[in-house]
Amino acid sequence: MYKYKKLIIYYFSGTGNSRKVAIWLSIIAKQNDIDVQIINIASIDKITLESPHSEALLVFISPIHGFNYPPVMLHFIRKFPKGTNKIVLMNTRAGMLIGNYITPGLTGIAFYLSSLIFKFKGYSTVGMIPFDMPSNWISFHPGLNYRTIKYLHEKNKEKVFTAAERILSGRLYFKALREIIQDIIVLPISLLYYFIGRFGLAKTFYSSSDCNDCDICIKNCPVKAIIKVDSRPFWTFKCESCMRCMGNCPKKAIETAHGFFIGFILMNSAITALFFKYCNIYFAEIGNGIIRFIAESLIFLLLLTIFHRIIHYCMRFKIIERIIVYTSLTKYKFWGRCYKALKEI
Ligand SMILES: Cc1cc2nc3c(=O)[nH]c(=O)nc-3n(C[C@H](O)[C@H](O)[C@H](O)COP(=O)(O)O)c2cc1C
Repeated sequence: MYKYKKLIIYYFSGTGNSRKVAIWLSIIAKQNDIDVQIINIASIDKITLESPHSEALLVFISPIHGFNYPPVMLHFIRKFPKGTNKIVLMNTRAGMLIGNYITPGLTGIAFYLSSLIFKFKGYSTVGMIPFDMPSNWISFHPGLNYRTIKYLHEKNKEKVFTAAERILSGRLYFKALREIIQDIIVLPISLLYYFIGRFGLAKTFYSSSDCNDCDICIKNCPVKAIIKVDSRPFWTFKCESCMRCMGNCPKKAIETAHGFFIGFILMNSAITALFFKYCNIYFAEIGNGIIRFIAESLIFLLLLTIFHRIIHYCMRFKIIERIIVYTSLTKYKFWGRCYKALKEI
């Protein structure tokens, strides 16, 4: 009944949603005697990545970050060896619930960009399928309640089974194309997120004085973005804001520094305005074009690096630490501070 005898699933997951979809897909394949291999791209050596079996159907699953696949997935796809297999692109994105209606997330350019890269490598895309799993972006919105999370898991499990039937029997499934207009509209935001926004977000995480130095965040970070600075966890620009560290911290010590970030944005705006004022008086006039935008972005990243490092140092002083903690929304119970995909439903 099914066209493929072998299925290889490559996935990246921060908080477990994409992993869950990978597992559900593998279950249905195994039940139908298809040989399945599941590969977590964060835990393999991407340099010596082997070419996939030529007969296998390849599936790529990852969360959406900033209307695109996160850099770790994009780099993996860029490095992926050439081949002629059929591929299916999947993602998990920010599902929410209003009554019993699941509000969809937004994929943005993830599928189009990736399928273009694969096309150049010789592959042909036969499916683009989004799944609206519970949103894990707790830095951005309050955490979802258990009922919502459970409901979204159940609905998506059914959707994965339907999608599996279709793709494994060799039919095309381009469900994502229904949203192509919205995806094109958010293109500028996806570029802004990739080139600037994600670096800003990387610097919003910190560990409070509740941290007991267990290093679980450092050991489990899928992109090895957390290091020790001044004996405390420090988030480098490599961080992809996947939210795993917050969800895994046994002491609930990792927070998103909303107060710090707002303070930084205000300071950055003032310094940037002064910079351009004096630049325009003493040097060349910098208008509103692309040069000004690049200059503003560079100033933003430079100031962020310095300011974040200073605050990290100052967190050793109790008063500063408390100010940062109490201006972090994730600290408060009503907000909810972590998300993890359900173990089983
Ligand atoms: C930094 C960040 C950015 C996100 N951006 C988007 C987005 O642009 N569109 C969307 O639908 N969901 C977005 N989400 C939600 C996640 O894609 C979604 O919750 C996903 O299922 C998480 O998968 P994971 O548990 O495998 O990491 C974002 C989440 C984070 C943490």
